[in-house]
Amino acid sequence: MKEINLTTKISVYLLDECTETEKKLIEAAKKATKSAYARYSNFRVGAALLLENGEIITGNNQENAAYPSGLCAERTAVFFANANYPDQKVVAIAVAAHNNGKFTKDVITPCGACRQVLLEVENRYKTPMRILMYSDEGIYVVDSIKSLLPLSFGDKMLEK
Ligand code: THU
Repeated sequence: MKEINLTTKISVYLLDECTETEKKLIEAAKKATKSAYARYSNFRVGAALLLENGEIITGNNQENAAYPSGLCAERTAVFFANANYPDQKVVAIAVAAHNNGKFTKDVITPCGACRQVLLEVENRYKTPMRILMYSDEGIYVVDSIKSLLPLSFGDKMLEK
């Protein structure tokens, strides 16, 4: 028997340590939480994508009385960007969440389904995406979704 150990490097930033563009992206994600449709969970998530051309696209969670029919903020933002700006690489995403009247103390990290969709985006545009996961106490940053999705299943597996 042998073991394989996988390690993930996560950088933890204070807001002041982020670049101006990153601050703008985080601010856009925070703002997007305000228009989330989260009447069932009251957990409001905002996502902001940075496109290669500098444009910022936002999305938020959209819930549904039939719970599984809702969609997370990350996928709402990504699908909008990919549908309307198919030629624009997505170079970064910031995510923030608002709960019980305030931004979360713990960082908000994308769910498994969103991680899979973010992987597809990286593969589609052949560009790693910087991921900024916000909390009021610090921001976790990784340089690629691959850091959050080890042993992933992607397009390569389907090659003949
Ligand atoms: N949610 C997101 O939008 N993004 C995440 O990363 C985690 C969860 C949403 C889904 C649902 O509307 C609510 O948060 C509670 O799970």
